[in-house]
Amino acid sequence: MTTLSSTNNNPDRYAVFGNPIAHSKSPILHAAFAKQTQQIMEYTTQCVEVDEFAKAADEFFNGGGKGLNVTVPFKIDAFNYAQALTERAKKAGAVNTLYKKNNVMTGDNTDGVGFVSDVTENLGWELANKNILILGAGGAIRGILGPVLEQQPTSVVIANRTVEKAEQLVEIFSGDGNIRATSYDQITGSFDIVINGTSAGLHGSFPELPDHLLANHSACYDLMYAKSDTLFIQWAKNSGSEHIADGLGMLVCQGAESFFQWRDIYPETKHVIATLRDNL
Ligand code: ATR
Repeated sequence: MTTLSSTNNNPDRYAVFGNPIAHSKSPILHAAFAKQTQQIMEYTTQCVEVDEFAKAADEFFNGGGKGLNVTVPFKIDAFNYAQALTERAKKAGAVNTLYKKNNVMTGDNTDGVGFVSDVTENLGWELANKNILILGAGGAIRGILGPVLEQQPTSVVIANRTVEKAEQLVEIFSGDGNIRATSYDQITGSFDIVINGTSAGLHGSFPELPDHLLANHSACYDLMYAKSDTLFIQWAKNSGSEHIADGLGMLVCQGAESFFQWRDIYPETKHVIATLRDNL
């Protein structure tokens, strides 16, 4: 367990549960938020056994813990653990934030709003009235779709290797906007914004995409981030995208939204992103 805390003897306790968790940046960003907003709190990491999420969460909250972030592979366990779910957690089908609200264990999902605030506030890109292409149809994409559609883009096309998974997402979100599914080789048209949510790059590969996908002044956002350019970012640069970003900002902004749910104060994120970038 690693700890980053203030020096107060009785700080409010928060943690992130995951497995593996050693390289999590969450303690760094929450320590920065706490310092910036003068909150007396500590935030630790805890590597939880794969079958022991509920037991570990019980111990944490029964021991006085105030709130948890939850990362891979426990977001569905956290969804099942919560007694009440926010609307956005229900729609995402996953929980990354737990806390007691009026004594009820509440599960929230801040990934999608984190993505949208990074894109619209930190980067200054508009999602409204844009044609958006999304690559991938896994949990990460399901997490952002609700908040993305709330921005009222003109259209959202979800392309995935396994088209059925894209079609399942379309079924879940079809009431929320103009959204359709496709395979990579059947993508047609050009797009203002392309978002990568595949984990292909982690395996050193990237889907073959049709040429001329990008409209003029297009933007590309990779939900992943890395010290050097991801394969998607390389593709975006080679394709002439004018605005390119990776998911480090989303990571900080989802944390900021969790922090806001817990502490009722929304921290500044831009400088925290810059500091994390310098330390990648
Ligand atoms: P996450 O929670 O990070 O979204 P996930 O639910 O396992 O992880 O989803 C991974 C996504 O990356 C899926 O869209 C997956 O495509 P499939 O649904 O067809 O499996 C995509 N992906 C992973 N490896 C890929 C590869 N080598 N080429 C193309 N897509 C890949």
